[in-house]
Amino acid sequence: MKCTRCRKNQAEIELIRHNAAFCRDCFVDFFHLQVQKAIKQWKMFSKDDNILIAVSGGKDSLSLWNVLVELGYNVSALFIDLGIDGFSEKAFAKVEAFSNKIGSKLIVVDLKKEGIPIPKVIKSVRRHPCSVCGQIKRYYFNMVAIKNDFDVLVTGHNLDDEASRLFANVLHWKSEYLQDQAPLLPSENGLKKKAKPFFRVTEQEIAAYAFFKDIDYFVNECPLSKGAIFSFYKKELNRLECESHGIKIEFYQGFLKEIRPLLQNAKKDRNDKITFCERCGYPATKNGLCSVCNIKEKINLKK
Ligand code: AMP
Ligand code: FES
Ligand code: ZN
Repeated sequence: MKCTRCRKNQAEIELIRHNAAFCRDCFVDFFHLQVQKAIKQWKMFSKDDNILIAVSGGKDSLSLWNVLVELGYNVSALFIDLGIDGFSEKAFAKVEAFSNKIGSKLIVVDLKKEGIPIPKVIKSVRRHPCSVCGQIKRYYFNMVAIKNDFDVLVTGHNLDDEASRLFANVLHWKSEYLQDQAPLLPSENGLKKKAKPFFRVTEQEIAAYAFFKDIDYFVNECPLSKGAIFSFYKKELNRLECESHGIKIEFYQGFLKEIRPLLQNAKKDRNDKITFCERCGYPATKNGLCSVCNIKEKINLKK
């Protein structure tokens, strides 16, 4: 099969939902274009902005880092060392090697030094490790972006992540989470502006990009993430996608266009009631403390 774009080279990847097949170079151009469209459509950031990208060492964040640097954006990276022995040090090695290759600045937060490595936290907090780990990561993403005066924080969340999260939030009618679900969240209430430039591309497309660009990423799954419900929802959405090509992007874009605007008044009411943590000054969740100060408190009570 010939590439449907240049019509010269042999196609190496077929994208059924776009009714296209691309050679390597045309796929990379197409992929970059999808990211640029996302950035422009949602006014995520410009070439003058200082961007902080959160990188895990996995294919999504390393690929996004690569795209942004190739497109000429000004990017520094943040790695959170979760303190999971046998996992975090391998992820860090990939991040560090990639940072040296690409020549961007790398900031590291070590949760062991912060007193809250994830394996220790989950002994005191009775929730799924991924949920508490996500909360801690989001806290440090925000804190580092604010303290170092970055304009925006970006993550490697892709269409599969966003659609499966939306699916879960709708199934359980998590209205507050739905209010906060978007490819761009503005800077407000002690939270730095957040963007997800990969929201138009799928996990499979990112894997192809990483392969074509020879990106050496960390493949292992986190040993604590077993039984995470999101992977189940992702599989179900992929099953639907096989039956009905393009359903994932239609589901997510449809939500953004039709439903999300209806939720914004409720979000404004929530914003009016926001309070700040008595200890660290970042947005509080309960008991006058933020999520991380609450976790530190629980760990200290257990000692
Ligand atoms: P995940 O929740 O593991 O699917 O990761 C979603 C996004 O969060 C990744 O694409 C990264 O941008 C970011 N991320 C995940 N883990 C880390 C980490 N340990 N350090 C920094 N960023 C991370
Ligand atoms: Fe957070 Fe595994 S990466 S629990
Ligand atoms: Zn706090």
